[in-house]
Amino acid sequence: MGNCWGTPAEQPTSVTPDHLTSGVISQTTSNTTSSGGSNISRNSLFSVSSGDEVFPNGQILQHPNLRIYTFSELKAATKNFKSDMVLGEGGFGKVYKGWLEEKPSTRSGSGSVIAVKKLNSESLQGVEEWQSEINFLGRLSHPNLVKLLGYCYEDTELLLVYEFMQKGSLENHLFGRGSAVQPLPMEIRIKIALGAARGLTFLHTSDKHVIYRDFKASNILLDGSYNAKLSDFGLAKLGPSASQSHVTTRVMGTYGYAAPEYVATGHLYVKSDVYGFGVVLAEMLTGQRALDLNRPSGKHNLVDWVKPYLADRRKLKTLMDSNLEGKYPSKTVFQVAQLALRCLAPEPKCRPSMKEVVETLERLEASSERANEPRARSSHPMAHRRGQAPLHHRSPLHQGQEKGRGSQLSPLGR
Ligand SMILES: Nc1ncnc2c1ncn2[C@@H]1O[C@H](COP(=O)(O)OP(=O)(O)OP(=O)(O)O)[C@@H](O)[C@H]1O
Ligand SMILES: [Mg+2]
Repeated sequence: MGNCWGTPAEQPTSVTPDHLTSGVISQTTSNTTSSGGSNISRNSLFSVSSGDEVFPNGQILQHPNLRIYTFSELKAATKNFKSDMVLGEGGFGKVYKGWLEEKPSTRSGSGSVIAVKKLNSESLQGVEEWQSEINFLGRLSHPNLVKLLGYCYEDTELLLVYEFMQKGSLENHLFGRGSAVQPLPMEIRIKIALGAARGLTFLHTSDKHVIYRDFKASNILLDGSYNAKLSDFGLAKLGPSASQSHVTTRVMGTYGYAAPEYVATGHLYVKSDVYGFGVVLAEMLTGQRALDLNRPSGKHNLVDWVKPYLADRRKLKTLMDSNLEGKYPSKTVFQVAQLALRCLAPEPKCRPSMKEVVETLERLEASSERANEPRARSSHPMAHRRGQAPLHHRSPLHQGQEKGRGSQLSPLGR
């Protein structure tokens, strides 16, 4: 790891830490996005999305291309925000599944499934983030970024409407509870890592040089074919002043995944995202959360705990996610561990670029597919029809993984 050279892209971006207090990292950025058009008022309607143009390499739109929904429309779509429509809950409120009829009057049955994020209306904590999400995600378009379809702003109600991601978050799959959540085979984990890496590469190499800053398993959403899409951009980037209740998750997210230079100095690099990516790779290999206070002392922080194991093939084996039941190509897995180690280098300039990460993962995906071919043909419903077949017969997660989000009760916030 001795030789690594910095490039101009590795200069810290001009992020000024406002304050670094009691475990909450709050920032204001001055150059990661253009904020033109950020003043969203009820009357400033963006152009309604007209079509489904496909840009495989992504694009940045001049203006957010979003639809404006009425509150009653979203209320109807989510059956009055019924509790059994809840997909999950984050620091900013609940996310509901919804169904939108194309033309409500026709009752033709044609429509689309959506995910509706409803910000907690009793607090104002999410306003800036809501707006930032619109400005970022409304303009960034890439197959590995979740699609923001539109928003609603009525009285105190702020909502965001996204494409529905059928398989939920990577976090649910790695650490979720119950038989509904199936452990992911290694080749699907690599596919997900590759999709997420492509999303980050797009952000880093776009002319805006967007730094994602909140790379974590819960922000990697999966469609029905396990294609990964990054979500929640604006939210983590701003989030400074007001919020209290999302502090807990933010703290955990930050301290589990944040790069050491960012935590120590507030300096943010494109390579700070690469560190977060390394943490998620470590989670994918081990099935352990980035930060989990239920683990014995010395093992709370995943990176501190597993780094020595990643470098040693035999040690790595002892640490692999037991849900994989030993079914993985060990050479490929060791190479993933090597990649994770490079991403986790303490010095930002020693970490690979996301483009390099993508290239490495593409090679590993190919070799993992080759290694799995005989087994895939005979027994694995997902492996032989990558991107098509759902999981059918995996056993439920064992208790050891079901520590839930206990680790999210912040030690730092207390
Ligand atoms: N577009 C979507 N499609 C399907 N499920 C979604 C979608 N967006 C979010 N979810 C579900 O809702 C959950 C909560 O998402 P949310 O982004 O609000 O919080 P989080 O990422 O868990 O935490 P944080 O507030 O720290 O970002 C996700 O984990 C996911 O399971
Ligand atoms: Mg999220």
